[in-house]
Amino acid sequence: MADVAGDTLIIEGQAGRRVINGSIRVNGSKNDAVQAIAAAFLFKNGLTLANLPQIDDVQKMLWLAKDLGAEVKISGRTAFIRPPRMSRATLDTEIAEKIRASILLTGPLLARYGSVTFPHPGGCVIGERPIDFFLAGFRQMGASVRHRRGSYEVNAPGRGLRGAAIFFKNQSVTATETFLMAAVLARGLTVLRNCALEPEIENLGRFLRHAGAKISGLGTPTIIVNGRGLLVVHRPYQVLPDRIEAGSFAILGALLAKRLEITGCEPSHLQALLNLLEEIGLRIKTGKNKITVLATGRKLKPVNLKTHEYPGFPTDLQAPLAVLLTQAAGASVILETIFESRLNYAKTLISMGAKIEILNPHRLAIVGPTTLTGRKVTSPDLRAGLAYLVAGLVAKGRTVVHNVHYIDRGYERIDERLRALGLALKRF
Ligand code: EPU
Repeated sequence: MADVAGDTLIIEGQAGRRVINGSIRVNGSKNDAVQAIAAAFLFKNGLTLANLPQIDDVQKMLWLAKDLGAEVKISGRTAFIRPPRMSRATLDTEIAEKIRASILLTGPLLARYGSVTFPHPGGCVIGERPIDFFLAGFRQMGASVRHRRGSYEVNAPGRGLRGAAIFFKNQSVTATETFLMAAVLARGLTVLRNCALEPEIENLGRFLRHAGAKISGLGTPTIIVNGRGLLVVHRPYQVLPDRIEAGSFAILGALLAKRLEITGCEPSHLQALLNLLEEIGLRIKTGKNKITVLATGRKLKPVNLKTHEYPGFPTDLQAPLAVLLTQAAGASVILETIFESRLNYAKTLISMGAKIEILNPHRLAIVGPTTLTGRKVTSPDLRAGLAYLVAGLVAKGRTVVHNVHYIDRGYERIDERLRALGLALKRF
């Protein structure tokens, strides 16, 4: 199939030379922005969001809000969303199917309007990505769930959702966020147990609390919410810096920089990665809202890595880190514990010259250092796409990356920003 305009990147590889000596700024967090857009439906008079990244997933969430009847005003990185008084609360199938984050709207919509209809949320193909925690949780809060003609119809007629004790079988980021939001408008007490601990959840919870919600236990596995009804706030929701974008840049710096300063980020959100980079042999300096990655001139060392819920090593940085490990001298092992299909990128790295053995769907071994060679590749998802981009920049020769729209879902104008660091890549 022919590529659409702008969906291809042509990269001239640096053959492992450390050509970067500069600085790059981190944008607002994708995963914080998408939940904040959903949270707007908890507010009586609307909500202003600041520091939004200008990326596809955010645009799609804003589009969904508008389609639900909300007034949406966008100005640069700021958006104002005023929810409608009444809404049919039916998510547009075509858009909602494309992004996993669409599921975040279900909690606030159901809690506010008493019903919600939505398709199975799509997003990156990195595993099965079921929604059973959501359906079970809605039922526990007194709603009925029907699956009809490809859509889920959830209804909480009469007095709406009631508080409940919900135990998540696994720590789930979007399930924790969805039920935290739903509980704010539900009647009575909700106790959420085995919650995810990602900083975006705490950011959301603190903001809702500032707006009058009664929430305790933020930053712990047990969050307790006493439902109080619609919220009112006068200050904007400040979207956090994107820790995954910052981490991706740190990995790029570890491969290609003499020195790379990453500004506008929160180093404490990346402790697991920064420790690992030091173990691999980089020098890391952190300051207020800043990380500096410095080459030491020593050989890079192999490491064993296991992805883990926050504050462990993030699954979203696992594929880019694998590219770094192809340049370390010796054998590294990666164990992916969160998603089933997040090692599929390995075959492409092998075709570029990496020595990788896929031991089973969750585990692979990498032996380095190897010289990667540029070739034509196609992004299968956001983070694997970024890994191919990084591999192409490190490789010898030219790499052509197709399906760049996957990378654009999470990294704003990545080509322009990396060009500003002196790297050679063009979009077609
Ligand atoms: N799970 C279930 N049932 C559910 C929900 C989740 O079994 O109903 C399982 C998943 O299959 C997975 C585990 O729980 O094995 C954890 O998945 P989680 O629900 O935490 O993932 P998510 O909320 O769908 C968010 C991010 C992802 C990120 C993961 C893990 C958003 C919008 N997405 O997804 O971000 O990888 O948490 O940290 O916040 C990305 O940015 O590239 C991305 C995929």
